[in-house]
Amino acid sequence: MTKTIPKKITIPSLWRKKENQEKIVVLTAYDYPTARIIDQAEVDIILVGDSLGMVVLGYEDTLPVTMEEMLHHTKAVTRAVKQALVVADMPYLSYHLSPQEGVANAARFIKEARADAVKIEGASPARLHLISLLLEAEIPVMGHVGLTPQSIRHFGEYRVQGKNLTQAKNILQAALELEKAGVFALVLESIPRELAQIITQKVAVPTIGIGAGPDCDGQVLVLHDLLGLSPDISPKFVKKYLEGHHLFRQAIEQYVQDVRTARFPDEEHSYHFNSHASSEFIKELKLWLKEKEAK
Ligand code: KIV
Repeated sequence: MTKTIPKKITIPSLWRKKENQEKIVVLTAYDYPTARIIDQAEVDIILVGDSLGMVVLGYEDTLPVTMEEMLHHTKAVTRAVKQALVVADMPYLSYHLSPQEGVANAARFIKEARADAVKIEGASPARLHLISLLLEAEIPVMGHVGLTPQSIRHFGEYRVQGKNLTQAKNILQAALELEKAGVFALVLESIPRELAQIITQKVAVPTIGIGAGPDCDGQVLVLHDLLGLSPDISPKFVKKYLEGHHLFRQAIEQYVQDVRTARFPDEEHSYHFNSHASSEFIKELKLWLKEKEAK
């Protein structure tokens, strides 16, 4: 029987999807087992987002996330993935201080963590320059505009961006400049659907929406939001596919009950000596213990 080898998603294959109007599916992952499931479910792009900080590490925002934390989790994800394109999110301050440091940090994701690309937020002149250097170093870049969570100190709160005309023009301008700079895809976060539609029609690279409506070329969600594992945060754009928090808690409470009432472990979950030797072994062990205690 011939086994079908999963086909690796490449950047040109994502561009073809845009051309053919096939939606691109993106989901975040931060560890080996979930990355494996997501890859088996044939998600196109796995983003190791710096949302890691909030949904896995318990930080208040994404700002404290370090390079070492991102590398650690990206490595776990790439060990699991056979098919999806893996994009690593560059954490706050890993690309802000100097272009050289930005390139060196991005290269660690490719060289050490085996990611396929990196994502950076924003489109300032410094970011556009950095993108040219990253491309020169053969590192594909995904852009991110709209609500860029690393700018939370500027925004003050996680709020829809681009609702007034000035903001909308700035976001459109940012998208066009990122396209020109050479990003292979563009995340559009928390912007009006109409603006996302204009950007999607205008740029040649795929747009990946999150809170940007249904007209983008693809969609990304944070895994823990999709699974209902972040019960405290639920933006309007999240669709929960599982009541994960509730279900996990139920299962764990059942385990607590079972152990406390001695229902688990039971006979079914126990090992034994081989039956022919069992009684002899037990006798021997008891005798050995008795002799030891007598000494
Ligand atoms: O960090 C993240 O998960 C992201 C997505 C929300 C796009 O940047």
